[in-house]
Amino acid sequence: MKALVCILLLLETFVFVVQQQVDGGLNEKEIPDIPAALRELTATVTEQKGNIRELNATVTELRDEMKKKDDEISNLTLSQVELRKENRDRGIAFSAALWESGDGYIGPFTTEITLTYKKVFTNIGNAYNPITGVFTAPLKGAYMFRISIYGHGPESGASIYKNGERVVIAYDNQPKYDLNSSNGVVLILKVGDVVYVRLWPNSRIFDNGNNHSTFSGYLLFPLI
Ligand SMILES: *[C@@H]1O[C@H](CO)[C@@H](O)[C@H](O)[C@H]1NC(C)=O
Ligand SMILES: *[C@@H]1O[C@H](CO)[C@@H](O)[C@H](O)[C@H]1NC(C)=O
Ligand SMILES: *[C@@H]1O[C@H](CO)[C@@H](O)[C@H](O)[C@H]1NC(C)=O
Ligand SMILES: *[C@@H]1O[C@H](CO)[C@@H](O)[C@H](O)[C@H]1NC(C)=O
Repeated sequence: MKALVCILLLLETFVFVVQQQVDGGLNEKEIPDIPAALRELTATVTEQKGNIRELNATVTELRDEMKKKDDEISNLTLSQVELRKENRDRGIAFSAALWESGDGYIGPFTTEITLTYKKVFTNIGNAYNPITGVFTAPLKGAYMFRISIYGHGPESGASIYKNGERVVIAYDNQPKYDLNSSNGVVLILKVGDVVYVRLWPNSRIFDNGNNHSTFSGYLLFPLI
């Protein structure tokens, strides 16, 4: 009987402990709130997706920009190569003396006149027109021009003009003897710019088979 009471007591204690554990272990506070956790997780994933989209957009934008820059660079390189090729294909250089044949003066006139140098030595690229005396730039670049004039007084003068503006002159003045003068200039020309020589008013220049009075020009290098 004593033993039975003892066992009963033990059993009761065990049940109490188990009950306590069940109550304590599974109490409301410690049950994970799975829907809430899922909601939180979903929110985080949604946010991360947004971040990824933003990043993706930035990367795509950067890639597009890089591609555009690459295109620009390759276009530039291409145009430089083309320009160099074009320049190699057609150099620009001319040189001419005043009279096609024979000898004589031109001038004096009371106003300036454009000189037409008719004896063409060289005209690579045909940018110089011996009928009008005008050089027309076929491409943008730095060009060198030069004139020499020769006469016998009282005065000899000529000017290099660019698009209607006087740039440099060659001039000499003495009543009795030979006159020689020359000048040259480097000019930056755009396509279509014109360069020519005009005789100074009231002056005259001479030429003969010795080719004293000349006009020359050539492309130094092209510019983009
Ligand atoms: C990133 O953007 C590109 C186009 O802009 C799209 O094709 C690709 O699917 C996107 N990737 C992600 C992970 O959003
Ligand atoms: C490059 O050249 C091509 C062909 O001329 C043109 O279609 C394109 O727009 C150019 N790209 C840039 C970025 O200038
Ligand atoms: C001018 O140049 C010619 C050769 O073109 C020469 O015969 C003459 O002596 C020179 N005159 C003067 C004044 O320098
Ligand atoms: C002047 O130019 C003509 C044509 O090129 C040439 O025949 C002649 O020899 C030149 N005169 C002199 C003195 O160089």
